[in-house]
Amino acid sequence: MEIIHLSAECYPVAKAGGLGDVVGALPKYQNKMGHYAKVVMPMYRTKFLYQHEWDVDFKGRTNLADWWFDFTVIKERNNTLGFDLFLIDINGLLDRENIYGYADDTQRFVAFQIAFVNWLNHWQHKPDVLHCHDYHVGLIPFMIRYCYDYNRLADIPTVLTIHNAQYQGWMGWDQSNLIPRWDTWKGGLLEWNKTINPLASAVKNAWKVTTVSWSYLEELRYNSNGLEALFEYERGKCVGILNGIDSDVWNPATDKFIQDNYDVENVDEGKQMNKEILCKEFNLNPQKPLIIFIGRLVGEKAADLLPDAIVSAMYTMQGNVNFLVLGSGEPHVEWQLQQLTHTFPGNYNVMIGYNEALSHLMYAGADFLLMPSRVEPCGLNQMYAMQYGTVPMVRSTGGLKDTVTDMGEWQGWGIRFNHASIGDVVHATGRAVGLFYNDPESLTKMRRHMMQIDNSWENSVQQYLNIYQSLKI
Ligand code: ADP
Ligand code: GLC
Repeated sequence: MEIIHLSAECYPVAKAGGLGDVVGALPKYQNKMGHYAKVVMPMYRTKFLYQHEWDVDFKGRTNLADWWFDFTVIKERNNTLGFDLFLIDINGLLDRENIYGYADDTQRFVAFQIAFVNWLNHWQHKPDVLHCHDYHVGLIPFMIRYCYDYNRLADIPTVLTIHNAQYQGWMGWDQSNLIPRWDTWKGGLLEWNKTINPLASAVKNAWKVTTVSWSYLEELRYNSNGLEALFEYERGKCVGILNGIDSDVWNPATDKFIQDNYDVENVDEGKQMNKEILCKEFNLNPQKPLIIFIGRLVGEKAADLLPDAIVSAMYTMQGNVNFLVLGSGEPHVEWQLQQLTHTFPGNYNVMIGYNEALSHLMYAGADFLLMPSRVEPCGLNQMYAMQYGTVPMVRSTGGLKDTVTDMGEWQGWGIRFNHASIGDVVHATGRAVGLFYNDPESLTKMRRHMMQIDNSWENSVQQYLNIYQSLKI
């Protein structure tokens, strides 16, 4: 089958979070199973662009309302990523360093989608499926069905995968002229709650909708930032498929970002060596348990709890614990986390920013990874942690609930708690610290057990393929 993945992110081209990881891995594994999966994304000005060779595949001209623009589709020459990668260049809109965060993001992503359907309209054949990831490409299922210029493409099956329903891409009706001439009787298929809602539109128009864990699929019906009734109504076409992890990138035995590689046999020694490097760099004590947090410092991840929870845990544990945080996000959380370095020097540190290499060293060198997320559609951090023998401390929600068991259960390997609250985080920290000091044999057993859990992509890839197959016309 020929599968076209459309996304705003794809690792290592451009990544802001797990969406990038998934789109960088899923097509590779689909190709390994004998299919022809490609990725199409915006041509941002990231390092990857300048470090690789490209061929021009197509040049076109189209419009975003009354603004006419030229676009170019380029293709990576050497199949470096294990799939064909196409970037769409639109000068003035996509030629930026960052993926998101600009005042004209709506125009940027709508123009990207228009350029894509325009290009697709010039193909001699039709692909078997268009697989859209999140709201940035959520208007495509509508566009190919109801935009007059593109309805030659209307019979191409579309699949939407929701990685995060918090962000929906809301556009006022005054921006409806950005969408190429469409059948105005179909306005209801663009709208939710009196605005154009690209995520809701994709849920309504895609042939099938998937999300990245079973529990999150359940949760969407009562907690999806306003779309609860829609998910209830459309439940028949929604499926949960857990993400996998890319073992070419995330494997402590081969990881190129760490100096001291290790495997299940020597996990304790390997971890300690990485921990020492990490602790030296951040002025922490490698003899004490190390709890890390990696991620976007936003409400969804309950990052706002961290400063108070760390203070409280530090006093409760009488300083017998280290915390290290890597992330960026809400400025007041960043500021509070930075202030704490003065309160607990030697026990706590933070790196504000995005650092792929450091994240690998942290998964390798830490004893525990904390994820108190309020919302977690799947979560990859906990799966990476498990692969590196790092015990996940997670709130029981979404994908965290589906991938981590509690050490109190038979053969359990993680620490789970129910509330995104300071009390629950401190309690979980107490259990972690107790395990580290009082029961190192169990800790080693848990590490070994986790590292052997199969979170690979193969199984999930098959589930996606089954869905495409069921949509074949
Ligand atoms: P989300 O996509 O919601 O942010 P996930 O758990 O699915 O959460 O994926 C997060 C991904 O982003 C992981 O690969 C994680 O290691 C990475 N990541 C998040 N923040 C940072 C950061 N500050 N530096 C490096 N990697 C980060
Ligand atoms: C989103 C979610 C995260 C998920 C990722 C990849 O960013 O917040 O939970 O793991 O997408 O699907």
